[in-house]
Amino acid sequence: MLNEDEKREIEAELRHYEDKRAVCVDALKIVQRRRGWVSDESLQDIAEALDMTPAELDGVATFYNLVFRRPVGKHVILICDSVSCWIMGYESARAHLKARLGIDLGETTKDGQFTLLPVPCLGACDKAPAMMVDDELHTHLTPETIDRILERYSRGTTA
Ligand code: FES
Repeated sequence: MLNEDEKREIEAELRHYEDKRAVCVDALKIVQRRRGWVSDESLQDIAEALDMTPAELDGVATFYNLVFRRPVGKHVILICDSVSCWIMGYESARAHLKARLGIDLGETTKDGQFTLLPVPCLGACDKAPAMMVDDELHTHLTPETIDRILERYSRGTTA
């Protein structure tokens, strides 16, 4: 069941559009922001609120790679695996992240702190290699900068 805050936020978005489907990505993000990911049950509830079928909404959620359909860690690391990042050191950044976190792409650390996922271009090609942690972009990645970034998130000092 969507909670009252989620319903209120989705209804506020709906006021801007004639077609309820126009808010489907926003609605998915509203629920994800509060719950960390979008479960089948949440997807069904959102679809109902937007007069969509769960299959239609799941198609959007699957296409949009920032909507998580499985539980994720407290922090989600999205490492860019597109061409500029490949050229500028993606493989070394990925290897360092995997070693530091003890997980492979698509996995979550045992303590639930980090999930590591590959994504297409983050739009920071001139500062490659790049990754996002939650909503924050990190560029010019090296093993040293990655260590500093992970420490900040582990300590909870991300500002
Ligand atoms: S290719 Fe990595 S940010 Fe564009």
